Amino acid sequence: MTTLGTPLSPNATRVMLLGSGELGREVLIALQRLGVETIAVDRYDNAPGQQIAHHARTISMTDPEQLRALIEAEKPDLVVPEIEAIATPVLEALEDAGVVTVIPTARAARLTMDREGIRRLAAETLGLPTSPYRFCDSLDELRAAIEQIGYPCVVKPVMSSSGKGQSKIDSPDDVAPAWEYAMSGSRVSNTRIIVEGFVDFDYEITLLTVRARDADGQIGTQFCAPIGHRQVSGDYVESWQPHPMPAVALERAQQIAQAVTENLGGQGIFGVELFVKGDQVWFSEVSPRPHDTGMVTMVSQWQNEFELHARAILGLPVDTTLKSPGASAVIYGGVDAEGIVFDGVDAALQVPHTDIRLFGKPESFTKRRMGVALAFDDDVDVARRNAAEAASRVKPRAV
Ligand SMILES: Nc1ncnc2c1ncn2[C@@H]1O[C@H](COP(=O)(O)OP(=O)(O)OP(=O)(O)O)[C@@H](O)[C@H]1O
Ligand SMILES: [Mg+2]
Repeated sequence: MTTLGTPLSPNATRVMLLGSGELGREVLIALQRLGVETIAVDRYDNAPGQQIAHHARTISMTDPEQLRALIEAEKPDLVVPEIEAIATPVLEALEDAGVVTVIPTARAARLTMDREGIRRLAAETLGLPTSPYRFCDSLDELRAAIEQIGYPCVVKPVMSSSGKGQSKIDSPDDVAPAWEYAMSGSRVSNTRIIVEGFVDFDYEITLLTVRARDADGQIGTQFCAPIGHRQVSGDYVESWQPHPMPAVALERAQQIAQAVTENLGGQGIFGVELFVKGDQVWFSEVSPRPHDTGMVTMVSQWQNEFELHARAILGLPVDTTLKSPGASAVIYGGVDAEGIVFDGVDAALQVPHTDIRLFGKPESFTKRRMGVALAFDDDVDVARRNAAEAASRVKPRAV
């Protein structure tokens, strides 16, 4: 049985979000609707989630001492990582000591913060289909690895996200620049990269997979309808749900997602990224938390991915039913400036069946995601067009 408390009282159910960007902010909103007391942590002040949580804390989450001190001081019931760049050994130690429950598990947070951990688990331990890959620590090792893998291939720092430091290699001339670019894009001073054979997929999907308690108190697995998305330079620009798939491919996708999420364990939502060609499906990577491409569910599902996560982590039942086909399109900052303004939100909302989220980030960068446009329609292609149109009508501007 789940018992929820009253926030700001001694009986509060307290949840700490590690990372309070746009995804964390929506999880915090979902938690607050259930009367959960929330603590939003980020590395800078006034992060989107900090603006709406009960408590805001700013620390370096990659610093083990700061992270440990904060968790021990706040003693939340649950610690919910929302980003990858966290001192995960601290989470594992505190979980082992019974001090805190980490969502979904501290091990999942550790394995997925590093491409090597999750890739070896998926391909070598679980035997799931993936692109061919090698790990390298120098340009010479990269050249040798490409001899095996061939062209084209993709190079990524093992510690990076949102396409940072990632590039495609088509010929020997591209190898040295790709290595240099990877070195500049890594999150940590670490020279390790993964080189993957390029998968010539027809399309890629995110399969949102939820591990939640069912009526018998057992943890069951439920899937959302597949989300299609388009990436530019390794960063998502638009997504839509559902993405049509042959039954065989969908079944394979669900089997892969079930295998990897069962191994990672715990409760919560996972964004399983898959490549599809005909009936063939490859595992790419997984986020043990809501996924950026899943923002479309704010318009397309009865319970969006953030509400599903909030319910699952609290031990509540979930409902992954689709409400309407829908789409999301990213609104980029377009400028490097603090405290920008957004013109054209009125014009954007004149596009039929649309909605807008502006994340309230204190500082804009040209390629920083500052908001998202959402659209629903019976025809998913119409929803895509309308979301893109609405996003394009929002004009961020420095003042
Ligand atoms: N081996 C591959 N073959 C073909 N395309 C690939 C391959 N690896 C990555 N990509 C493309 O690049 C995108 C980003 O790659 P990946 O998800 O590994 O990086 P990421 O930095 O973790 O991105 P994010 O954090 O946004 O999910 C993929 O969604 C896909 O479009
Ligand atoms: Mg990805």
